[in-house]
Amino acid sequence: MEDFTFDGTKRLSVDYVKGILQPTVTCDIWDEIWNFQAKPDDLLISTYPKAGTTWTQEIVELIQNEGDVEKSKQAPTHQRFPFLEWKIPSLGSGLEQAHAMPSPRILKTHLPFHLLPPSFLEKNCKIIYVARNPKDNMVSYYHFQRMNKALPDPGTWEEYFETFLAGKVCWGSWHEHVKGWWEAKDKHRILYLFYEDMKKNPKHEVQKLTEFIEKKLDDKVLDKIVHYTSFDVMKQNPMANYSSIPAEIMDHSISPFMRKGAVGDWKKHFTVAQNERFDEDYKKKMADTRLTFHFQF
Ligand code: PPS
Repeated sequence: MEDFTFDGTKRLSVDYVKGILQPTVTCDIWDEIWNFQAKPDDLLISTYPKAGTTWTQEIVELIQNEGDVEKSKQAPTHQRFPFLEWKIPSLGSGLEQAHAMPSPRILKTHLPFHLLPPSFLEKNCKIIYVARNPKDNMVSYYHFQRMNKALPDPGTWEEYFETFLAGKVCWGSWHEHVKGWWEAKDKHRILYLFYEDMKKNPKHEVQKLTEFIEKKLDDKVLDKIVHYTSFDVMKQNPMANYSSIPAEIMDHSISPFMRKGAVGDWKKHFTVAQNERFDEDYKKKMADTRLTFHFQF
């Protein structure tokens, strides 16, 4: 493994594992990740990167803690929810964190369904999957790669647009990711949610999550959770906005982690030609699924 320290100039290298691009540090520990032993009461939050993971993590933890905001503020997101396949040489690894954490654990992954460690299904763990429309997802990922030195430099927006469509980004093709989890959802204990629904009617989606987690919360607590997990409140919450990650890794002055939190922001980035090219490509890649997305309200 390369000797890597973040000094603000270098980025983590990437490589392929089972055809999916990943940071090399993840490829190096792939066998350990694949053999991860889930426990029956683990709750897994799975997403394609930038689809609403952090938002869902915050909601789920507040549901578990019955709206106790102070409990959720005890540590930053990356310490409260082990990120299974993640390893940053100076910050540790998701596997180490998961092993050290008492149950019940809430874990995070961005792995496509076919690379999910089999123990999650063997133990019949509950899994929450969140999907986001690919245009906003792409824009969010582009800005995240600009500010996050643990991922490759995205290049120009024009370059990134092609890289994303080709699925040559970490965690692979968006299309394959959302379709893979969609096909799996009825065969396993998977709740499949959409970022756009969470934005449109957050209380309804919080209620859905509450039922899935088998908690009973009164209306006031649901309202409290919706309030504390709104974009504006989370953006100001140092335990949820990733500001505790060293600036050599995530530089929020380039683009904040909590950037826009909107549906339809892609319209400010896509040219007319890019939009046409995207739609044509989307039609082909999504022809074999009934899964649909809202691209604007
Ligand atoms: S990561 O790095 O994959 O875990 O990122 P992830 O949390 O999945 O996605 C980050 C994007 O989600 C937005 N976000 C929110 N939107 C609405 N409401 C809330 N509460 C919220 N919290 C995070 C965040 O701003 C990123 O989207 P963009 O479009 O870049 O703003």
